[in-house]
Parts: sequence; C-alpha cells; structure tokens
Amino acid sequence: ARDAALKAIDAATSLEELKQTRLDHAGDRSPLALANREIGALPPAARKEAGQRVGKARGAVNQALAARQKVLEAEHEARMLVEETVDVTLPTDRHPSGGRHPLTTGAEYIADIFVAMGWEVAEGPLIEAEWLNFDALNLGPDHPARTMQDTFWTEPAENHVVLRTHTSPVQARTMLTREAPIYVVCPGRVFRTDEYDATHSPMFHQVEGLAIDEGISMANLKGTLDHFATQMFGEGIVTRFRPSYFPFTEPSAEVDLTCFVCRGAQVVDGVTCRTCKGEGWIEWGGCGIVNPRVLVACGVDPEKYSGFAFGMGIDRTLMFRTGLSDLRTLFEGDVRLTTAFGSEL
Ligand code: PHE
Repeated sequence: ARDAALKAIDAATSLEELKQTRLDHAGDRSPLALANREIGALPPAARKEAGQRVGKARGAVNQALAARQKVLEAEHEARMLVEETVDVTLPTDRHPSGGRHPLTTGAEYIADIFVAMGWEVAEGPLIEAEWLNFDALNLGPDHPARTMQDTFWTEPAENHVVLRTHTSPVQARTMLTREAPIYVVCPGRVFRTDEYDATHSPMFHQVEGLAIDEGISMANLKGTLDHFATQMFGEGIVTRFRPSYFPFTEPSAEVDLTCFVCRGAQVVDGVTCRTCKGEGWIEWGGCGIVNPRVLVACGVDPEKYSGFAFGMGIDRTLMFRTGLSDLRTLFEGDVRLTTAFGSEL
C-alpha cells in the first residue's frame, strides 16, 4: 500500500490530481488507514511491530504528499506568472475612433440627392409651436387627425408648445420666411408617444420635401420621388402612389417603394419575398399637393403658386439600405454600428 501510494503521488501532475491522490492514499478510507484500524484486532504480541510499520508507512506517504504539494505549487506559480504576463510595451489605441453615425451620413446622402437638383436644406426646432406643428398645416384644434399623431405636449399647456410630431412644420416656417419659388428638403428628428420596440421609437427621423412654384403638379411630385428612390436604392427602384389623406395636402397619397429585395418580383429564389411579404412594394412615406389652405396660412398666393410636399421616415429608409431588422440598433450608441456602416452610407 505504501509503494502504491508513493507511486501515485509521483504520478500526480497537478494540484487537483494530488488532492485526489491524498484522498485515495491518506484519507480515512485509504488502505493504510484501514490497516491502522485493524492493528487493534491483532494479537498483542504482533501489535507493536505492526503499529510501527503502518506508522512509518503513513509517515512516508504524508511526507511524500507534502513534498509533491510544494513542487506542484511552485510549478503552478511559475506557470501563472508566464500566462498572466502583460506586455506593457505593446502599442495601444487609446482613443479608438468610431465612425459617423449612419443617420448622419444617411441624412446627408439624402440631402445631397436634392442639393444636386438645386434644392436647399432647411431646418427647424425640435420643440415647436403647436400652431406650426398643427394649425398652419390645416390641423385645427378640433381636427380628428390631431389624435393620429400621438403628441408630446410640454408644460405649461397654455404655452401651446409641443415636441414636433413631424418635419412638416418646417414647410410652414419656410413658406413664412422665404419667397416662392421654394425647393427645400428638411431632414430631422421627430417625436411621438410610441412604444420603443423593433419597429417603433418615440424619437425617429423624417425627411420632408417641399416644392412651391408656378404650375407644380402631381406629375412633378411623382417624377421627383422616383428619382429620389432610384438615387437611394438603385436603378429599377421606383415609387407608386396610393390615395390617402393628410390635412395639409390635397390630393394626398401614400408612397410605396419597389421592394429592393425582390425588386418587385414578389418572390426570391422561388419563395415569397419576406421583406415585402410578396407585395413587391414597401411603404415609404406620405405626399401630396400642398393644400391651398396651407399656402394661405403661410402667406403664399394660391392663385399664383402651387406646390407638392412629401415626408419619409429616414430610419426606415436606412434599415432598408443596411438590412438592419431592429430599429433600436440605430439609437443605442454601440460604436460597432458606426464603424460598420458609418463610412459606407
Ligand atoms: N407629415 C406626414 C407624416 O408625418 C407626412 C407627409 C409629409 C405627408 C408631407 C404629406 C406631405 O405622416
């Protein structure tokens, strides 16, 4: 039993193994412990000699265990020192740079498409007068469509100030401060009391377009949006209009975009396109001919001028372009998003 124990101790190559060896060969149920217990049952004459032999053997085993323990501990220590070595001289990037946010580059990309056609970029405040966000746009206090846009109101209520629910107040601001003809795009943040989930956010981005000139028609609007779609998503991607209603435009339309995944084919590799659910089109925004009541409210002569306006969700547009499936990715500030998409949009 002693030799078996010494052999096992020698063979233990880690502190873990040695622990087991100790249990096996020096523990309460080890052969030597059993032998020790049996000594009492021996005839008295044999006890002394047996006691000495077992005692010696146990002593030798315990010594060997202690010696091996020391060796293994020293080895462990040495290994940790090597493994945990940190090379403090390695060069590091102490200020890793992210990229520009895709919403920034995306909004600029969109603005550039219009600037290339001679349009200007206009901006307005995020905290807006109720009158500009609603009344000037033919959304009077009792207009049912007011409740369609779940508004954040600011206190005190008698100040009549809201977080703008769309970029359309920038239309009103532009008409009030510039002379026609007017061609502006207005990208920016908007706010609605929406839940925060994969497709909704209480803060999102829109791009508004407004053209006021003599003889502006629905055909100009369609041509402009088709050009926008093609510039944004590539050749073959165009728009279709579905009749709709907005108080500030008449007639009004919902704008759909050719599905940029199946490119209108409705199927991909023989199965129904998942992006457009087999429609061949995806919803993109709203548009229409500026309601003459809005022109009047904003000081534009409806006898001389007409105009078109449109509003698109930028976040949605970017999700289409990047293939992101969760809107929240755009807002959570993970630097990996900006490094992945920042430069390519
Ligand atoms: N402001 C509308 C919205 O937020 C979109 C729109 C803009 C519709 C301009 C028509 C003309 O839903």
